[in-house]
Amino acid sequence: MKVRSLKGMNDILPPEVYLWQFVEEAAREVLEGFGYKEIRTPILEETSLFQKSIGEGTDIVNKEMYTFTDRGGRSLTLRPEGTAPIVRSYIENNLSADDYLKFYYIGPMFRSERPQKGRSRQFHQIGVEAIGSSDPYIDGGSIFLLSELLRKVGLDGFRIKLSSLGCAKDKQRLAKELRAYLLPEKNRLCEDCRIRLEKNVLRTLDCKIESCKALLRNSPKAKDFLCPDCREHYNTVKKYLNTQPSVYFIEDPNMVRGLDYYTKTVFEVTHSALGAQDAIAAGGRYDNLIEDFGGKKTPAIGFAIGIERLLMALPPEKKKEIESKKEKKLVYIATTSSDAYNKAYEVLKPFRFEDEKFVYEINYDRTRSLKAQMRQADKKKASFVAIFGDEELKRNEVILRNMKTSEQKKIELNKFSKEFEEVIKREI
Ligand code: HAM
Repeated sequence: MKVRSLKGMNDILPPEVYLWQFVEEAAREVLEGFGYKEIRTPILEETSLFQKSIGEGTDIVNKEMYTFTDRGGRSLTLRPEGTAPIVRSYIENNLSADDYLKFYYIGPMFRSERPQKGRSRQFHQIGVEAIGSSDPYIDGGSIFLLSELLRKVGLDGFRIKLSSLGCAKDKQRLAKELRAYLLPEKNRLCEDCRIRLEKNVLRTLDCKIESCKALLRNSPKAKDFLCPDCREHYNTVKKYLNTQPSVYFIEDPNMVRGLDYYTKTVFEVTHSALGAQDAIAAGGRYDNLIEDFGGKKTPAIGFAIGIERLLMALPPEKKKEIESKKEKKLVYIATTSSDAYNKAYEVLKPFRFEDEKFVYEINYDRTRSLKAQMRQADKKKASFVAIFGDEELKRNEVILRNMKTSEQKKIELNKFSKEFEEVIKREI
């Protein structure tokens, strides 16, 4: 029986993994620079955490969660997103003593969606959450940070879509109007939307069925229900963003997010290099979520970048450049006897721990002829081969062969470190 990975859950192999390391490192650098601190929460949480935060009636909660009952009879769920666990942790660990906190996280999320280009069941996010301020400058600053992050990894040509959903009261008024608008059309709605109409009408805005989308095209919009405070908040966010020449955004009054917890500012970043699943990142404010979970009323905002989609949108030449920069060059160590092998080991010891650009690999099969070792070095695309041959060692020498130019140089063993470094560093 062949064992296979689960559908929609992918291995990340070298050299692709170098892209992941690059993105993660770049993200850490930018985020730490902006004062965000890493937080790591468990991958498994109580199901109710996500039901309550993401919302009953959302696709994620209704159809996409990996939920199971554990041996103790508890309902547990693999995290489909990172915001609710951070909120749980914030409250549980009494982090509110600090009035403003900024967190980031990098890791896998799980949603049982139908896999397609840009959509997998285990996917990875770089997420940030800024907790404790309702200042619209934080909203603008989060969007600025997001676009800096994307630029830092080499992405261009993305679009930022912006909207405001208003506060809880505004959302209630929108829901009331939307229900009144849709009720006479009930029979033309899909089965899911008929249920949404009763349970959570705002979710109809997120329906992917064409006939529902057509019905909703002229439906009441969030922007028409903003109270004066929320309108002012939204205008200030836009004003701030307009002072940032590197941030280009467009307003999208039809934007709905797939999670219920959002209030006020919401945004999405899309890229034309992606197909139907074109959102690379998304986020927004969630000013009521902490209170809903029993914490003090604490406004907050955040976003998450989908790493798979970000990598898909990166230009191929950029990816090649990252991979070749990240992948260490190989120095293959060929030996002609056990004595030579031992000598090579001794001489190379300090190199193997210190070198950032080169990796040293010694031939482990001592029955292999020198010719076979050279063939293997070639196959492994070694940049150099250092030949520790018995004859040369008698003369206190090692041969260093440049595999690209086929040039060979004899290096004196007691000056090995210095000369070896000089020769190979010229290649960088
Ligand atoms: P989200 O829009 O559900 O938001 O996901 C954010 C990003 O994760 C998406 O824009 C996309 O790039 C990626 N993503 C989502 N689902 C998949 C999938 N099945 N396959 C591949 N990539 C996917 C959130 O998760 C919120 N927690 C963001 C947030 C943080 N809001 C406030 N703070």
